[in-house]
Amino acid sequence: MTLVTPPPIPRAAGSVPLLGHAIQLIRDNLGFVASLRTRYGPLVEITLQPGTRTLIVQDPGLIRTMLIDLGPSLDKGRFFEKMGQLLGDSVVTAAGQEHVRKRRQLQPAFARTQISRYVDIMRAETDAAVGTWIPGRQLDVREAMVKLSLDMLVKTVFAGSLDEATFRRLRDDLSVVMNGVGARVMLPDWMERIPLPFNRRFNAARDAVRATIHHAVAELQESGQDTGDMLSLLLHATDEEAGQQLTAHQISSEILTLAVAGTETTASVLSWALHEITRNAAIEREVLDELDAVLDGRPVTFDDLPRLPCLDRVIRETLRLHHTGWLVTRRTVTRTRLGPWSVPAGTELAYCQHALHRDPELFPDPLTFKPDRWLDEAQAQAFTPGAFLPFGAGKHKCIGDRFALTELVTALATIVRRIRFEPTSHLEVRPVAGATVRPSTLLMAAHRRSDPAEERQH
Ligand code: HEM
Repeated sequence: MTLVTPPPIPRAAGSVPLLGHAIQLIRDNLGFVASLRTRYGPLVEITLQPGTRTLIVQDPGLIRTMLIDLGPSLDKGRFFEKMGQLLGDSVVTAAGQEHVRKRRQLQPAFARTQISRYVDIMRAETDAAVGTWIPGRQLDVREAMVKLSLDMLVKTVFAGSLDEATFRRLRDDLSVVMNGVGARVMLPDWMERIPLPFNRRFNAARDAVRATIHHAVAELQESGQDTGDMLSLLLHATDEEAGQQLTAHQISSEILTLAVAGTETTASVLSWALHEITRNAAIEREVLDELDAVLDGRPVTFDDLPRLPCLDRVIRETLRLHHTGWLVTRRTVTRTRLGPWSVPAGTELAYCQHALHRDPELFPDPLTFKPDRWLDEAQAQAFTPGAFLPFGAGKHKCIGDRFALTELVTALATIVRRIRFEPTSHLEVRPVAGATVRPSTLLMAAHRRSDPAEERQH
């Protein structure tokens, strides 16, 4: 058998000493990564940290290999290392056996029976949020969705152990840290050590977030109550290796991870879905008709979730066109075979879901929001394997996928039936990437749908 030598991996143009590709990334990170898909092949090298090779994996088959086949043997890489500066050691930063153990401890909180209990809380939180929106007054929808997502998560995770002022502080501090993490992935490490205001703000916000979460965990631990929420589940979980209950420090890291992994992501998807529903009258009408027919005026429940296929397609299409993931990383620990290439130990591998989901070779007419592309299940299955990865794949696949889909259906069903949005700004709603991809700004007036028949005229 003749071994075919693979072509050399190209290096993306524009890298400069000490900074790598930081200038292009800071200027327009999404545009830069998207341009790599059109200019280079299945693998392309960029420089984030001078001296370390980062390979952007662009081919869906190779992405699947990296996530599934190589999953157990790879470290999590640069993005998760930077997240670790906030989170400490948690399920999201761990690799190998440590990851397996941590994931097993969290799993019961995401069991189907638990999720069914969360729906009523999620709906109540959405109703409460809608109640605070002043009819006709401009609303920062993205901000409102961040608050709603955090409320839903905090109420299920902490059973309401955070007061309103703490909520706000946590949300503001988290936003500083998440933007900072995004920047730290793109900038060389030496820039973190310069005492610039930007770095000082990041450190102060990170310490504040950790202190808030630690305080909430310690309070609940002291109270000894079993509130039946995720925090209680963790308080009663044991560390398999040590045979002891988790320490407050370990629990704080896991809870903080859930707050981070489950807030910006859900908030962005909710915001984009409302944006698309608002600007596509036919889709809005279809969603409303389905909600009327299935719910007949009563609130959405857990049993309704599989009975809303139109809303499901809207969510799926939102997860395609407006995915929140911009650079998911891994790192080789030993020399590793990736397709025909052999990659040395210590190489960073990364893929961009946002760019992948917008590739015209994988999705025809990719920039058009078209929920009906998912209408025919057979056609949907025919999309190239590895082309649509809303929750990733392999051993690190999102643990909160069912939780997130439940939140998305519950919140959207509740909001869309009560509120008609109207854009109030001519500013283009653009995707921007910090730690995740989110809408730049989304300003809309919220009108109550008091009379559904009358509202349908709009
Ligand atoms: C629409 C919302 C969400 C999206 C698009 C999303 C997406 C993802 C993706 C793509 C991954 C895999 C990352 C990798 O390959 O390393 C992931 C992992 C993870 N997600 Fe989500 N997620 C969402 C919501 C949530 C929620 C609500 C939670 C928790 C309440 C959550 C918790 C996690 C955790 C803990 C991990 C790490 C899993 C592991 O490494 O074993 N996510 N998420």
